[in-house]
Amino acid sequence: MIKVENIHKEFKRHKVLKGVDFEVNPGKVYAILGPNGSGKTTMIKSILGMVRIDNGAIYIDGGTIKNSADYRKNIDYLPQIANFPSNLKVKELFKMIQNIRNVQADATELIDLFKLQPYLNKKLNNLSGGTKQKVNLVLTFMFDSPIIILDEPTSGLDPVAMVNLKKLILREKAKNKLILMTSHIIGFVEEMADDVIFLLEGVIYFKGEIPALLAKTQQHSLENAIAHLITQENNEI
Ligand SMILES: Nc1ncnc2c1ncn2[C@@H]1O[C@H](COP(=O)(O)OP(=O)(O)OP(=O)(O)O)[C@@H](O)[C@H]1O
Ligand SMILES: [Mg+2]
Repeated sequence: MIKVENIHKEFKRHKVLKGVDFEVNPGKVYAILGPNGSGKTTMIKSILGMVRIDNGAIYIDGGTIKNSADYRKNIDYLPQIANFPSNLKVKELFKMIQNIRNVQADATELIDLFKLQPYLNKKLNNLSGGTKQKVNLVLTFMFDSPIIILDEPTSGLDPVAMVNLKKLILREKAKNKLILMTSHIIGFVEEMADDVIFLLEGVIYFKGEIPALLAKTQQHSLENAIAHLITQENNEI
């Protein structure tokens, strides 16, 4: 379980998170939604300890993450932008991350799933965007951690890879894992997310199931419901 309590973060007087609260639990897929720059990645990085929050607290399985790094072993994370050394070969990267994490992992099945065998001896900077994303997905799903955090997992994927990603997410959810993700792809969110958390300008405007959001906004689609939340906020300004 992850509990986020009244967290605040500002970058050089630019307030990005302004008192965010939520709780997410195992066995469910949660999608953090919100326009570009609304603070989703900052939120995720705060949970991972990659961004130091100014105020508030984050608890994982009841313990605060403050001054702790060990808890990260229980999280598999797909960053929105992965910056691995571009002269590494794909197979070298798999080996390197496995060595760093120092836990048993087998990427064979995932390499097969995403048809990455032809790329194992290629350098990262020679891969297409979507292939790079598949490599990043293998790195995320090859470790069997109870929490999975995915920042824009669909980025650049072709339809076949999308289908495989969805299968993977459902498989991990069935193992009672907690999956927290961001995505701008509405269809993907509608299909995958049990609950959505809608973040706008550092404040949560809605958290709950999609049908409840549709009812609250009196809209018939998630896309319209989100547009409604955003325009309502703009009108208030
Ligand atoms: N390290 C940083 N230093 C300064 N400003 C930052 C930093 N990281 C993020 N920001 C700012 O914080 C705001 C929120 O950024 P964030 O990356 O969390 O947005 P996001 O919701 O993930 O957007 P997107 O949908 O584009 O991924 C932006 O205005 C961004 O410029
Ligand atoms: Mg982001």
